[in-house]
Amino acid sequence: MKRPTSRRSLGSINDDENEAASVPAHLPVLFEEALVALAVHAGGLYVDATYGGGGHTRGIVARGGRVIAFERDPAAQPAAGPRGDVTLLRRDFADLAAALDEFGIATIDGALFDVGLSSLQLADPERGFSLLRDGPLDMRLNPSGGPTAYDLLARSSEAELADLIFNNGEERAARRIARAIVAARQAGRLPHRTLELARLVAGVVQRSGKRERIHPATRTFQALRITVNDELGALDRGLAAAAARLRPGGRIAAISFHSLEDRIVKRRFRDDERLRVITRKPLLPSDDELARNPRSRSAKLRVAERLSIVRS
Ligand SMILES: C[S@@+](CC[C@H](N)C(=O)[O-])C[C@H]1O[C@@H](n2cnc3c(N)ncnc32)[C@H](O)[C@@H]1O
Repeated sequence: MKRPTSRRSLGSINDDENEAASVPAHLPVLFEEALVALAVHAGGLYVDATYGGGGHTRGIVARGGRVIAFERDPAAQPAAGPRGDVTLLRRDFADLAAALDEFGIATIDGALFDVGLSSLQLADPERGFSLLRDGPLDMRLNPSGGPTAYDLLARSSEAELADLIFNNGEERAARRIARAIVAARQAGRLPHRTLELARLVAGVVQRSGKRERIHPATRTFQALRITVNDELGALDRGLAAAAARLRPGGRIAAISFHSLEDRIVKRRFRDDERLRVITRKPLLPSDDELARNPRSRSAKLRVAERLSIVRS
């Protein structure tokens, strides 16, 4: 394996202290499970496709691994491990193949995908991800370019909105929500802010008799976020690129947070002839983790291993 020719190194900052002083830290989900699944060994080269707060990266480095990390969000803070063990690329993991080529890396020992949002992104109202904190309807993981959630609401037809809310949010009331958004738009009252949109959707989604565990606008927000960032397309491309670069016996560990992501991971692992599925059933957080970190409640970890000989 060729080493990166122009590796940028990261300073050794005590990130936990910095985070604790300012914003709530992101607790890595299924931490031990993911590191065990990756079978991290000293000197190995691993891709952390979703750097976030750097928690999993730090775990890999603590076990002697080197990390090429991807992070789409320019706000994610570089901090992990001793100098030189981590190279953080401010890129979409969908570009994994091109990025590894640029660093002259032909094969990797493992790849971790911990998709979705970090607690830090959710906690910042200005990012527009939270339906409980007021902010602009942005939702871009990389706010430096591309259409925002507001742009989607402003430009999409009613049918397009209904389809995206249904397909990316699995929201049964998608048609009614799309109709209400377009009606608000035509009346010059299209929501600009997260709480306005959350109220509009909540007013439309018929509450069933039983108490909903989630806010009525959760699925619509999920759908907008996934669409704005093409999250499902990126995930499939990233997993395929990682599978192509794994050395024989190397592993991909993927943590998903909702059924659409989990389906993509499951299918890619099952159908990719280069891979053998290690987890017939996904690994879930322990009771202890659920108590410590409620955000882990929907997490599922699936693991696959690169075959030495590709099945024909
Ligand atoms: C759940 S957090 C990861 C947390 C991380 N494992 C940790 O321990 O701190 C997901 C992160 O992945 C990033 N992300 C999501 N999709 C991405 C993509 N396609 N390319 C690169 N980063 C992405 C998000 O910006 C977010 O920071």
